[in-house]
Amino acid sequence: MRVVAAFWVLNYVNAMTRRSIILHPDPRLKKTCPPVETVDDDIRALADDMLETMYEAPGVGLAAPQVGVLKRVFVMDCNREDAGKEPTVCINPEIISASEVMVTSEEGCLSIPDIYDDVTRPETVRLRFLDRNGKVEERDLDGLWSTCAQHELDHLNGKLFIDYLGAVRRTMITNRMKKVKKEKARA
Ligand code: NI
Repeated sequence: MRVVAAFWVLNYVNAMTRRSIILHPDPRLKKTCPPVETVDDDIRALADDMLETMYEAPGVGLAAPQVGVLKRVFVMDCNREDAGKEPTVCINPEIISASEVMVTSEEGCLSIPDIYDDVTRPETVRLRFLDRNGKVEERDLDGLWSTCAQHELDHLNGKLFIDYLGAVRRTMITNRMKKVKKEKARA
């Protein structure tokens, strides 16, 4: 009984695991991810790990390929600190409509740390996705939520925010990241 209980506690503690975030450049960040067929416990565990990883980073969004899992899953929470947490799991997300009005905002990415640049995207989008329980949801997003959802959805199609930048700037960022990765590997 005690052994079982201890094992259960151990399992519970392990329930959420921080995963390591893949840094650009990496071929896994360039892949189009296939959809999730069934929202099961494995997918829920992945989503929970991703939320834990995202909050720890800290970041406002994280896509499955960034932790090496090529599946159409991303997590986000763009609430201001004073608004409380709103962990959001989006499985097989699609943008079903987008505003014609565009907005330019500064973006960053956990796979390209310490680099920020302006990206222009539709100001608002309507996002359809399956939630953590496999239920279809639709949400109208604006502000940071809209930008973040579009950025994360791009990840599922192998696209990074630096792909919106000019070739010179993108190459400069990629070269800088190659150096960062080399230094990390040596450390
Ligand atoms: Ni990103």
